[in-house]
Amino acid sequence: MKPIANSIITSEQDFRNRRKIIAAGLSAVAAVSLAGGVLADAHDTSEPLKPTPLKTINSYNNYYEFGFDKSDPSEADKTLITSPWTVEITGAGADKKGVYDLADIYSEFAIESHVRRFRCVEAWSMVIPWNGIPLHKLIASAQPNSRAKYVRFITANDAQQMPNADWAGGPYTEGLTIAEAMNPLALLATGIYDKPLEQQTGAPIRLVLPWKYGFKYAKSIVRIELVEQMPKTTWWQQNSREYGFYANVSPHHNHPRWSQKSERVIGGFGRQRTQIYNGYADEVAHLYGALSDRQYFY
Ligand code: MTE
Repeated sequence: MKPIANSIITSEQDFRNRRKIIAAGLSAVAAVSLAGGVLADAHDTSEPLKPTPLKTINSYNNYYEFGFDKSDPSEADKTLITSPWTVEITGAGADKKGVYDLADIYSEFAIESHVRRFRCVEAWSMVIPWNGIPLHKLIASAQPNSRAKYVRFITANDAQQMPNADWAGGPYTEGLTIAEAMNPLALLATGIYDKPLEQQTGAPIRLVLPWKYGFKYAKSIVRIELVEQMPKTTWWQQNSREYGFYANVSPHHNHPRWSQKSERVIGGFGRQRTQIYNGYADEVAHLYGALSDRQYFY
C-alpha cells in the first residue's frame, strides 16, 4: 500500500500527526489513537437534518488530485477547466453510446434538490443540500441492454490541470451494480446550496451515493461505462482489504483499523451514532442480501 493511502482514514489533524508519527517509525501508535471513536457522548441522529455550512463543505475535502490534506483542494489554484465539459456514455451494455455536452445534459434533465447525509469512511460526516440529476435518468438515455451489469465511472485526470493527477497511477475510478445505479437515491450532482460545484467538491459533475461511504462519490466525471464485469475501483486497488466495492455504511462492520459505530460531525458538535446504510435502509436495503453479509459493508 502506498503511504498516502493512510490519509483517507484520518482527519486533517490526525493525518498531520500521523505523518509525523510515521516519520518517527511509530505507526502502530497512530493506528491505536485513530481507533478511539468516542461513543459515550454520541447523540442520536433522529432529529431533522441540519445542513453543514457551505463554507465548511467547500473547505474540508478529499480530492487527492489537488493534494492530500483536507485544506489542499480548496486552497489549490483553480486550474481545472470545467466548461466546456463532456461526459461520454459508452460500454458493451449501452445501446445508445454518445458524448454528451454538459450544457445538453442541463437542458434535457431537470435539476433536483436533495438534502442528504454524507458519511466518510474516515468516520466523519456532514449534511449536504445537493443539486443534480438522478443517475438513472442519464443511464436510461443510454438504453442499457442485458450486458449492463455494472456501471464504471472515470474521472478527469490531467497533469496540466491537476497538481497531483498521478497519485493513484491513473484516473480515479468508481463503480456500482446496475441496480444500485438505477436507485433513485443515486445522484449526479452539479451543485450545492443552489450554487455550482466548486473545483474542490468535484466540479462540474460528481457522484452522490448517500448510503455509501464518501470515497464512492467520484468527482469530475468524464466517462460512464455500462459493463459486464465488476470494475476495479481506485481505493480497492490502493488497499483491497480495507476499501471494498460496495462500501455501504454500517455501524456494525468496523473498518479493519477503527470503529465505524459513530462519526464526528464536521461543522457541528461532537459525535453521533452512525446508522445502517447511513439512514437510508428503507430505500436501499432491498438491493442487498442478508444484513450480516460482510461483503456489502466494506
Ligand atoms: N474523486 C476524485 N476524483 N478524487 C478523490 O480523491 N475522494 C473521494 C471522493 N471522490 C476523491 C474523489 C473521497 S475519499 C471522499 S470522502 C469524497 O470524494 C469527498 O468529497 P468532498 O470533498 O466533497 O467532501
